[in-house]
Amino acid sequence: MGAAAMDWLRPEPGERILDVGCGCGGTTAELAAAAGPGGAAVGVDLAESMVAAARRRFPRDRHPGLRFVTADIETVEAVPGAPFDAVFSRMALMLAADPVAGCATIRRSLRPGGRLAATVFRAGSANPWLFAVMLGVAPHVGPLPPLPMGDEPGPFAFADPGRVRRVLTAGGFADVTVRPYDVILEAPDEREPVAEWLIEMGPAGAAYRAAATSSQEAARAAAARLLERFREPGVGYRLPAGIWLVTAVTAP
Ligand SMILES: C[S@@+](CC[C@H](N)C(=O)[O-])C[C@H]1O[C@@H](n2cnc3c(N)ncnc32)[C@H](O)[C@@H]1O
Repeated sequence: MGAAAMDWLRPEPGERILDVGCGCGGTTAELAAAAGPGGAAVGVDLAESMVAAARRRFPRDRHPGLRFVTADIETVEAVPGAPFDAVFSRMALMLAADPVAGCATIRRSLRPGGRLAATVFRAGSANPWLFAVMLGVAPHVGPLPPLPMGDEPGPFAFADPGRVRRVLTAGGFADVTVRPYDVILEAPDEREPVAEWLIEMGPAGAAYRAAATSSQEAARAAAARLLERFREPGVGYRLPAGIWLVTAVTAP
């Protein structure tokens, strides 16, 4: 879901790249590889557990150009390690409670003329599997988080491309573009593991993890039934994902 942003960014050898909302660091490692031995990549994430997992996965002694820091981009002045030449972000910016503050931090963390490429979800209708999973899970686990409304943070908070442009412009970026990009998420033909993977990555994840084992089993089975329409037996799952590729630069 980040390939288009990676292509647009085209990290150059020697560059310093920031990965915002890096999760467990897979894309940060790709960025570090592109930046080569003279470059560096820093992954930043709010979640201490994600950063700890990324550090375990990519230890410093074997990945000298790679760093992971825990920080909330909505509250820090700049990400430690700034200034960067470019910022990458895969499916994270729409989760910020104050995205203008988050984007302003990103802009302050870039050098003049630095570039940003990010991906975020388009509307829910372009990502139907996410609703299938929530509908399946809901009757079997405790209360799900309230559905985000309007501009509230959540998977679809950046569905309106006009809002994405306004947020980035208010954060101090220029030449903002927001382009649709469709991908098919492929997964093996393994009903329960795929159902669990999709439950875990979506808004029902926390309620699912807190549920009793028998409730989790029922939730997985129900989600798997609703995901059948995306499954080709013996081949696997093909889940359509509708994404915005968002690009921008800082004023030179
Ligand atoms: C859907 S995950 C995507 C993770 C990773 N980019 C990937 O594609 O695998 C979104 C990530 O953004 C992080 N995040 C959300 N708000 C953040 C903030 N204000 N500051 C830093 N990270 C944030 C979350 O902790 C989470 O790890």
